[in-house]
Amino acid sequence: MKALLLNGSPRKGNTYAALSAIEEGLRTIEGMEIENIILQEKKMAPCMACDVCRGNGGNCVIGDEGNEIIEKFYEADIVVFGTPVYWWGISAQLKIFVDRMYSKGEGNLGNKNVALVVTGGDGLENIQYELIFKQFRSIARYLDWKIVFEKAFSAYATDELAGDSEKMAELTELGKSLK
Ligand SMILES: Cc1cc2nc3c(=O)[nH]c(=O)nc-3n(C[C@H](O)[C@H](O)[C@H](O)COP(=O)(O)O)c2cc1C
Repeated sequence: MKALLLNGSPRKGNTYAALSAIEEGLRTIEGMEIENIILQEKKMAPCMACDVCRGNGGNCVIGDEGNEIIEKFYEADIVVFGTPVYWWGISAQLKIFVDRMYSKGEGNLGNKNVALVVTGGDGLENIQYELIFKQFRSIARYLDWKIVFEKAFSAYATDELAGDSEKMAELTELGKSLK
């Protein structure tokens, strides 16, 4: 089984901590191949809507590191998306990747177990988490993904979530559930 973690935060903060804890859980699953990608570190331009991919077998003409990540995504059985809340939505880094996935063709992206972890500065009563979950659930329904879990954490300072051992332990347990 192949697991891919996609981190949409540009800093090594709360999303990074959450995904690291989930990765720790994933590592306990025998035979699991894991890759953890920080999207900010990759050269990935936004989709140009040229639609060339629609007539060339699903190859994005941009040809940057985004293409390699799309291939890894295509190969993965399990995908964990992590994003900070930016203006009530997902980060630009993650959105660029989601748009670029389009090149593969909607019918070729299904059959995955996915999870979503969101970290935002505001409290969990803020509608922003529900907005992000609704977007993600809509994509999952459209592409035929099974959502294993979706989880939001309220944390603002860079090291806030990493300092909460209870929440980190909860995330590690969630990682173990991703079979
Ligand atoms: C550009 C930008 C926009 C943000 N927008 C929101 C927001 O709409 N709601 C919120 O609760 N926090 C917002 N924040 C705060 C981050 O969500 C918060 O600090 C989070 O912990 C960042 O996650 P990270 O440490 O993984 O980068 C914003 C931060 C930045 C830099």
